[in-house]
Amino acid sequence: MLRPETPESLKLAQTLLRDGALVAFATETVYGLGADATKGEAVAGIYAAKGRPSFNPLIAHFADAQSAFAVVQADERAARLAAAFWPGPLTLVLRRAAYCPIASLAGAGLPTQAVRVPQVSDGFRSVLRAFPGGIVAPSANPSGKLSPTTAQHVQAGLGEAVDLIIDGGPCAAGLESAVVDLSGPQPKLLRHGALAQADIEGVMGQKLALDVDPAVKASPGQMVQHYAPSKPLFLNASTAMADQAALVFSDSNGFEQACALEVLSPSGSDVEAAARLFSALHRLDASSARAIVVGKMPVGGLGAAIVDRLRRAAAGRGE
Ligand code: TXA
Ligand code: MG
Repeated sequence: MLRPETPESLKLAQTLLRDGALVAFATETVYGLGADATKGEAVAGIYAAKGRPSFNPLIAHFADAQSAFAVVQADERAARLAAAFWPGPLTLVLRRAAYCPIASLAGAGLPTQAVRVPQVSDGFRSVLRAFPGGIVAPSANPSGKLSPTTAQHVQAGLGEAVDLIIDGGPCAAGLESAVVDLSGPQPKLLRHGALAQADIEGVMGQKLALDVDPAVKASPGQMVQHYAPSKPLFLNASTAMADQAALVFSDSNGFEQACALEVLSPSGSDVEAAARLFSALHRLDASSARAIVVGKMPVGGLGAAIVDRLRRAAAGRGE
């Protein structure tokens, strides 16, 4: 059921979540498939709807940092990052509090829990406030498929498996949150995301250890092939043939032959490119092309996260 965001649909969302149902909602990164974090059965419903391997742990979303830090053991580093970036596209992995109310299935049985305070509408923040134990939400796509940045993507990918989809418009960042592990002495970046590594390091006054090599399962369950379109995808192309669709950063020179073309940011902005990445891939995947070729992407700023997502999309298919 797809509904525009209104006081009525928000009220329905709250009732459904309370009853253990699944509600998809917009955040600044991507759409999330939400369930009451404290209800094990509701959490199991998320894994079932996504077809997700059950060892992959979920992020719990909160209205504010105070609620988030009530369920985990937050330290001074966590407080500093929260003050700088929440609400925003940063997820913190911390040790669970002694009396963490979150269903252990949501954390895949780990001693840690991922928490985040997202940028959401004022209306949906009130819904979050009604769940002090958190709303767990993975990206609202079938496991291994492209992440959804519009309510229509969610409807097309998960359809009837979701009890309610609240249409909050397209996501501003369009790329998942950066995941930082603070459960040990050495802070680690587990997933590049819509917040640049350098910005996180700037606030921490410290380098992050990188644990994001796509060849290793760093973030538990973070599989190499993820964010996959259904067509083969090839990276680092400099030309396209007539039966290929092309995805380029800002310069489409050499890609004139492509039967479909998406320019991520004509002005060359990494932030704009990140915001448009998944919707552009969705459109190219829906085109008549046989394959998708991808031009060179930027290396600075959000470039690392963009390239990470594209490498996963191409995994197992050569570059
Ligand atoms: O932007 C986002 O983060 C979106 C929106 C909906 O908030 N959510 C999202 O969730 O991308 P998901 O489930 O698709 O990705 C969660 C990532 C996975 O890579 C998972 O392995 C990692 O966070 N993660 C979650 N809990 C963890 C934990 N306890 N330890 C290590 N990694 C964890
Ligand atoms: Mg995901």
